[in-house]
This record gives sequence, C-alpha cells and structure tokens, in this order.
Amino acid sequence: MDEKNPGSESLNEGWRRGLSPSQLSVEWTSRVQKLFLEGTGEEYFIGTIQTLPVPDWNGNFMLFDSENEHQESMRGLLWTTPFKDDTVRIVSFVLDEGARGKGWGSLVWNMMADQLLPAGYNFVQLEVRASNEGAISFYRKRGLEIVQELHGYYRQGLGYMMRGQLRQYHPNNDTP
Ligand SMILES: CC(C)(COP(=O)(O)OP(=O)(O)OC[C@H]1O[C@@H](n2cnc3c(N)ncnc32)[C@H](O)[C@@H]1OP(=O)(O)O)[C@@H](O)C(=O)NCCC(=O)NCCS
Repeated sequence: MDEKNPGSESLNEGWRRGLSPSQLSVEWTSRVQKLFLEGTGEEYFIGTIQTLPVPDWNGNFMLFDSENEHQESMRGLLWTTPFKDDTVRIVSFVLDEGARGKGWGSLVWNMMADQLLPAGYNFVQLEVRASNEGAISFYRKRGLEIVQELHGYYRQGLGYMMRGQLRQYHPNNDTP
C-alpha cells in the first residue's frame, strides 16, 4: 500500500468533476480567488477568474474535504483546456496549504490522464514560475521538460513553459 493514501483521512474527501470558471457564482469565484492568493501569491480579479479560457469539460476537477460540495469545502482545483488536437494545457493547478504534500496532486494528475488520454490528448503543457521548485519537480517526475523560457509572462520573474507526454505516474512501479 502506498504510504500516501489520499482519502484515508475522510471517506468523503476527494476530487470530483469541477465547475468551469464561467459557471462560478460570485461566492465560488471568491473561494477560488482566495485559493489562488494562498497558493501562488497572485491576486486575481473576480472577472479575470470568470473569464479564464477553460471550457466546461472532463478536464476540470475540484477537491472537497467533505461530501458537501460547498465552496467552503473546496481544497483544491485543476482547470485545463484543450490546446490543438493532441495537447491539454493546464491553466490552474492549486491546492490549499493544508492539502499539499499528501498525494492529492498526484491523484488528480492520474485522473486527468484517465479522462483525457482516451480522447487523444497525448501531451500536456503548462506555464510555471521558474522559482516554483516544488511544482517544477512535480512536473519533471511526470515526464515534462522545460521547453521555453517565458519573459514577461508573469508580472514578476521568469517563467517556464513545460511540456511532455501525458501519462499515468506511479512512483513505486515506474518504468524507466
Ligand atoms: C504543486 C501541487 C499542485 C502538487 O500537489 P501535491 O498534492 O502537493 O503533490 P503530491 O503530494 O502529490 O506530491 C507529489 C510530488 O510533488 C513534488 N512536490 C510537490 N510540492 C513540492 C514542494 N513544495 N517541494 C518539493 N517537491 C514538491 C514532490 O516531488 C512529490 O514527490 P514525492 O511523491 O516523491 O514526494 C501543490 O503542491 C500546490 O498546490 N502547490 C502550490 C501551488 C502551485 O505551485 N501550483 C502549480 C502552479 S504551475
């Protein structure tokens, strides 16, 4: 059994299919805004969040800490969008501080692969701050590489575009 066992803390804790930005009420958007601020230090306007380029599709996930799908129970978010025919672009990926480092990010990565590989999305691409070593290490382990430096993409500091094949990742029986 994997030491990290998401779901063991509460039976009802888990990832569910997520709403898309344009479906969010102001209350939901405020919760997302708080999550972004805590997770990335970035302050987004409500309107900016609601107009993020993310469709209503099976590449969106929300993490809840109870059965109740209320905005106060939301602990994490993964929003993605199709990019060209074969690539999924990660638009937002954030967990609140208390939910990090417990395997929730790994779990939803594999859920995303489960949903999108059968639809032909064989590649994944994203932008990340060069200073975000934790996230870069997470993506590297999943086969992504830095393919481009992004100057001026973030308000402050260097960014990277990372890209790789979309695949399931299992640390204990990974094939080289
Ligand atoms: C990045 C993030 C989504 C990963 O989710 P997570 O649930 O914390 O990750 P997991 O617990 O599944 O960890 C898996 C791996 O991620 C890596 N990792 C995640 N956060 C890390 C950190 N802060 N420092 C070092 N490694 C980290 C580790 O390599 C870990 O590998 P291990 O299983 O061998 O220990 C989450 O930490 C997060 O929300 N961070 C803040 C927001 C952010 O940076 N988002 C990404 C923007 S592009």
